Amino acid sequence: MNLPVTRYYGSKRRLLDKIWEALAVHQIEFNSVLDLFGGTGIVSYYMAHKGKDIIYNDILSFNCEIAKALLCSSRGSFTEADALALLQRVDGREYQNIIAQNFNQVYYTPDEDEIIDIVVQNIHYLENEKKASAYYILFQSCMIKRPFNLFHRKNLNLRTNFVKANFGNKVTWEQTFKDLFLKFTKELNEFQFEALPNVEITNTSALKCDRHADLVYIDTPYFPKQDGGGITYHNRYHFLEGLMNYAEIPDYIDRQKVNLEIGVGKCSEFEKRSNYINELDELIHKHQDSIIALSYTTEGYPSIQELEEVVHRHKQTIHVCYLGKHGFALNRNNAERQEVLIIGL
Ligand SMILES: C[S@@+](CC[C@H](N)C(=O)[O-])C[C@H]1O[C@@H](n2cnc3c(N)ncnc32)[C@H](O)[C@@H]1O
Repeated sequence: MNLPVTRYYGSKRRLLDKIWEALAVHQIEFNSVLDLFGGTGIVSYYMAHKGKDIIYNDILSFNCEIAKALLCSSRGSFTEADALALLQRVDGREYQNIIAQNFNQVYYTPDEDEIIDIVVQNIHYLENEKKASAYYILFQSCMIKRPFNLFHRKNLNLRTNFVKANFGNKVTWEQTFKDLFLKFTKELNEFQFEALPNVEITNTSALKCDRHADLVYIDTPYFPKQDGGGITYHNRYHFLEGLMNYAEIPDYIDRQKVNLEIGVGKCSEFEKRSNYINELDELIHKHQDSIIALSYTTEGYPSIQELEEVVHRHKQTIHVCYLGKHGFALNRNNAERQEVLIIGL
């Protein structure tokens, strides 16, 4: 299946066929999927193409817009003209310059900050049908222009200190918003469904999500074996979550932090290793009547054996499927890392 590249930390894009095969090998039958930690929506997208009913959930609202664009906005509903119009100031509209004022030299160049300010505010005026697609092209463009596609460091200098050269990252980072908007609009139109699948999107913490499905897919944040670091999804993507709450950004900026983290949407559920096992236990208990499919890695904390034990508390039959070595997107330096799917029936 041809799948969009989503530039997201921990995306399962390259594992989807393996996950599907693992479910098929164990003759798992299901019609509906609850994708509780949906991220880019790529797992939901794949399952929707396979004819499953989908409930997608993620705690970060910008991810929900990406999922809405891919799953709930039909092909042809957002055009190149729509994309280009987003870049223009509209006469008579008053624009704030919250990004230019607060994030000078943090993530983007001043010209780009100004464009982001204009685009976000233009999106607010769009009809609902086009909003998610507009956010999609903005967020993909914002990610592709960032070193490592992330926002946990103030490192615009990595980009600007590169001498002008015709190679790799520099070329990618310096593409204009206009070119990127056209590129992503074209891409989106290739991937959007013509006839929309049956999809519901929810934006809540996994433990608060009250939806049910035949199969619950659980792809939580991962912790490395060794304690330390502690970079959460919110740390990595706070800027995009901030854009979803544009007017409130100034109230949420943490000025003690060099990267001026925007605190809106922050939540520690499943982001603290000390609570992880208890939270997972509670989550699986909540979905004990569904098939559980839990993704994790051999190089993480907790170990696969510990995870197996947690699933076993609620499910009688367990299959542990090793999906091979797939240093996942944005983290290729862990050669021994194997991706695992734990199925609980
Ligand atoms: C490993 S990623 C999922 C990747 C996704 N399966 C994909 O292929 O794109 C984990 C996701 O969980 C989300 N998340 C973190 N804590 C959460 C919580 N308590 N409830 C729901 N989602 C959460 C993060 O925003 C992130 O998108």
